Amino acid sequence: MTATLITGIAELTTNDDDLGTLTDAALVLAGSRVAWVGPASRAPVADTRVDVEGRAVLPGWVDSHTHLVFAGDRSAEFAARLAGRPYDAGGIAVTVGATRSASDDVLAATLRRLVREAVSQGTTCLETKTGYGLTVADETRAARLASEHVDEVTFLGAHVVPTGWSVDDYVGLVCGEMLDAVAPYVRWADVFCERGAFDADASREVLTAAAKAGLGLRVHGNQLGPGPGVLLAVEHGAASVDHCTYLTESDMDALANSDTVATLLPACDLSTRQPLPDARALLDAGATVALASNCNPGSSYTTSMAFCVTTAVLQLGMTVEEAVRAATWGGARALRRESGEGAVGVLRPGARADVHVLDAPSAAHLAYRPGVPLTHAVWRDGRRVR
Ligand code: NIG
Repeated sequence: MTATLITGIAELTTNDDDLGTLTDAALVLAGSRVAWVGPASRAPVADTRVDVEGRAVLPGWVDSHTHLVFAGDRSAEFAARLAGRPYDAGGIAVTVGATRSASDDVLAATLRRLVREAVSQGTTCLETKTGYGLTVADETRAARLASEHVDEVTFLGAHVVPTGWSVDDYVGLVCGEMLDAVAPYVRWADVFCERGAFDADASREVLTAAAKAGLGLRVHGNQLGPGPGVLLAVEHGAASVDHCTYLTESDMDALANSDTVATLLPACDLSTRQPLPDARALLDAGATVALASNCNPGSSYTTSMAFCVTTAVLQLGMTVEEAVRAATWGGARALRRESGEGAVGVLRPGARADVHVLDAPSAAHLAYRPGVPLTHAVWRDGRRVR
């Protein structure tokens, strides 16, 4: 196993409570793991050495919410939005049609392209969802393809009720035959709990069936208006509730007193012309916050976690430290991968060797130099990929 010493680190964000943020630091990667972290003056010898010449180093981004299994283009819908048409998730049906008609090869090529795009910008751990198939065969295909390309796969058969189905019949399908068919490929299940998608009762049914099948839970909640999504997520012990754009005091209290991560998707809120979530209030209340891209062709067509971090700092009231942590450790926590052997979103001995070197001396440059591509080098699972 080859050990690589990364030295010349001006600022090292570890997200480890004991190690903290180090200056003039070094890091050793051995195989797919971090082997050593500490001051440069005490660095051990290794087989190879990479001098990053005064740059900042972070754990790779953990993008805990994407929808990458799709075909087609919705730029016309985006243009209509810019002209004043509100986003109401109706375009999901357009992507469902295009996705069902696409071959496996076309879907896999899109997945590969978007994963490559994300990794080249410092993302080293990705979740993605099904949800543009909405038949047993199409959801199973999406789950299978996703499992071949990303770290974590979520079943989102309960995205919207497809044309021609009653809510009751479709929820029955999702909770029965569809869940059984996708289960071998997924670790998580999700439901879009929103007006126009699934109400509280239908969402509860989906979450209960998924938990019974042994899947971890996530919820799309409170995206387009206040609603029951957050409380439902907390009630069911979901690992995360994603969007959280419209929160009441009791939603914030519930999140603050739970293990459910509030995953904020600021690129989506900007792209759909929604207000931005109150990250400051969530953090001050004591909730755990993650940031994710929500990359999908309708509401947020970006893989850029740096954009989300920059927006979080400049517009959501988060500090640089909070935003970077939310996009690394927070995402890992939302995927329950922040601790133990092979943890992501953290740089400590035993963690996965997922390293993001910025072309800047400190992480503050992510907000200080908005829009400037700052990724200098990336290791994913111990392999240098950029
Ligand atoms: O997270 N909210 C539901 N699902 C996606 C959007 C999907 C779409 O518009 O295609 C989201 O924003």
